[in-house]
Amino acid sequence: MPSITRIGVLTGGGDAPGLNAVIRAVVKTASNSGIECIGLEDSFDGLIEPDRSRILTPRDVTGILRFGGTILGTKNTGNPFSSDVATSEGTKRYSDRVIEMFHKMGLGALVVIGGDGTLEIAYEFGKRGIPIVGVPKTIDNDIVGTTNCFGFDTAVAFATDAIDRLHTTAEAHKRILVVEVMGRYAGWIALHAGVGGGADAILIPEIPFDLSIVAARLRDRDLWGAKFSIVVVAEGAYPKGGRQSLLEAAHGTTAERLGGIGAQVCEALAGFTGKETRSVVLGHLQRGGAPTSFDRVLATRFGGKAVELVKQGQFSTMVAFDPPDIVARQLADVVGKTKTVPMDSDLLRTAKALGVTFGD
Ligand code: F6P
Repeated sequence: MPSITRIGVLTGGGDAPGLNAVIRAVVKTASNSGIECIGLEDSFDGLIEPDRSRILTPRDVTGILRFGGTILGTKNTGNPFSSDVATSEGTKRYSDRVIEMFHKMGLGALVVIGGDGTLEIAYEFGKRGIPIVGVPKTIDNDIVGTTNCFGFDTAVAFATDAIDRLHTTAEAHKRILVVEVMGRYAGWIALHAGVGGGADAILIPEIPFDLSIVAARLRDRDLWGAKFSIVVVAEGAYPKGGRQSLLEAAHGTTAERLGGIGAQVCEALAGFTGKETRSVVLGHLQRGGAPTSFDRVLATRFGGKAVELVKQGQFSTMVAFDPPDIVARQLADVVGKTKTVPMDSDLLRTAKALGVTFGD
């Protein structure tokens, strides 16, 4: 196999704290191995025209370790295999243009940093002959094959801090405070931030809830003197027999947007308990800001491992955290699946044993 001298790196899907740390690690590690890095802008759009990419040297990535967002830009809409794109050489099938430009730019491999959607696209390009190494990114922590995605720890730390702040005002006013957190179809952020913040109820998509059970638990707290309560609701949580709350239905190649369940739970709990209730949606604040040290280290290890896999010619793979190691997984074993909270999760059992209700 001829050795690779130039690779492309891109970030796709929703941003997550730690993307810049991965880019930095990829660029520095590759450069130290004599491999040139081309930064591709806005996910696969960076392969549509030559002016959508740039050479990245260690100088270009110095100092970005601690920054949220991504210096390359990202997008979480569009499917290259079912859409056309206008190029300087006429309209083409998006995926054909990506493959054409990959070769024209003299790239030997692509490091694709993204969530489930982006990794699925990367896997499809892999099947069409593009050497791919994936890096799992998402605050939702829902990618199979890795115990952690970078970004998750930062999102949980932020949500936990928010819950701490809500605790003091909830207690002062003897109110119920409902906090809606992200996570899509998985309850990882809600579960971890809920336990970390000492919530009294945690509602997650994996356990359809009954609010009369939640209300009974909150009334109990009143009886023994804790006249306030904190309820953490994952955006994908839904009532028994009900359905997920949407801000926007799926359309074209754009996925549905979850949200609104926090306000609904808030209103219903006011009715059940007769107490004053308020709700807060943490939303995109969970994706912003500096990555925690855990995410910086994980992202750096992922970036370094991705370059190692490129050098070893291990393609159609994804780097993954299998504590204490960073390992390679086959993308085929990862894509099209969602890692949800298992019912035998130790954290779930621990929270229940402490008296936290999940509304079941
Ligand atoms: O996947 C990450 C995530 O932040 C989800 O938790 C959330 O449902 C979604 O992205 C929001 O996406 P958008 O950036 O389109 O609002």
